[in-house]
Amino acid sequence: MAPRRPIIGGNWKMNLTRAEGLALAAAVGDVASAYPRVEVAVFPPFPYLDAVRAETTPAVAVGAQDCSAEAKGAFTGQVSVGMLVDIGVTSVLIGHSERRHGLGETDAILCRKLARAVDGGVLPVLCVGETLAERDAGRAHEVIATQLRGALDGHSEASMSQLVIAYEPVWAIGTGRTATPADAAEAHRTVRRTLQDLYSARFAEKARVMYGGSVNARNAAELFAQEDIDGGLVGGASLIASDFAAIIAAAAGR
Ligand code: 13P
Repeated sequence: MAPRRPIIGGNWKMNLTRAEGLALAAAVGDVASAYPRVEVAVFPPFPYLDAVRAETTPAVAVGAQDCSAEAKGAFTGQVSVGMLVDIGVTSVLIGHSERRHGLGETDAILCRKLARAVDGGVLPVLCVGETLAERDAGRAHEVIATQLRGALDGHSEASMSQLVIAYEPVWAIGTGRTATPADAAEAHRTVRRTLQDLYSARFAEKARVMYGGSVNARNAAELFAQEDIDGGLVGGASLIASDFAAIIAAAAGR
């Protein structure tokens, strides 16, 4: 089977002005063009998506941080996949922990968002990960598997062929506390085992699984050296062009 292409995503969350975002997007475009082996994506806030799309080179995929579970209609404040596609967005984060835990998004909602993304032909990045309490209770792997099963419920193997998973332990997000490469790799194996149970060994081997949670320019290479870690979903360090560039370079060297 062909080796999995490394993937690095910059999740800007609710940060940056429009001008800062455009400057960052231009810088990321230069770096991405220099490392064609790595798939590079940025996930700006909704109001900047269109401008960022226009500012970057095609070497950078522009993704949204969320999408509606509905296709269209009376859903005030929501953004549909169709609208995202209309402005050239090619990927979407689904189930980030800040939406699961901050906004109460359930696996059932995420399951429907996945359907919308796939219907629209947008690359879905499904985020999973346990809280510190769940890890301390020895439940990390059960939580990961349950989140995957819930979001993928009813989705066929063929429909999920582009699926990317981001394993983001909640306790590592924005805390400066990174999972050890060994712990992260073990969680990634849990992701693949679950995908194998749900679909097939081939699917599990082919699917790309990113790690997220305090990835930075110093720890990226060690994390990406793990066989089951195919790249990173980066928050804070993705806001600094030179740090994000170093992380992309680390992925290119894996
Ligand atoms: P940090 O890299 O800031 O920990 O954020 C990770 C994250 O949530 C990416 O989606």
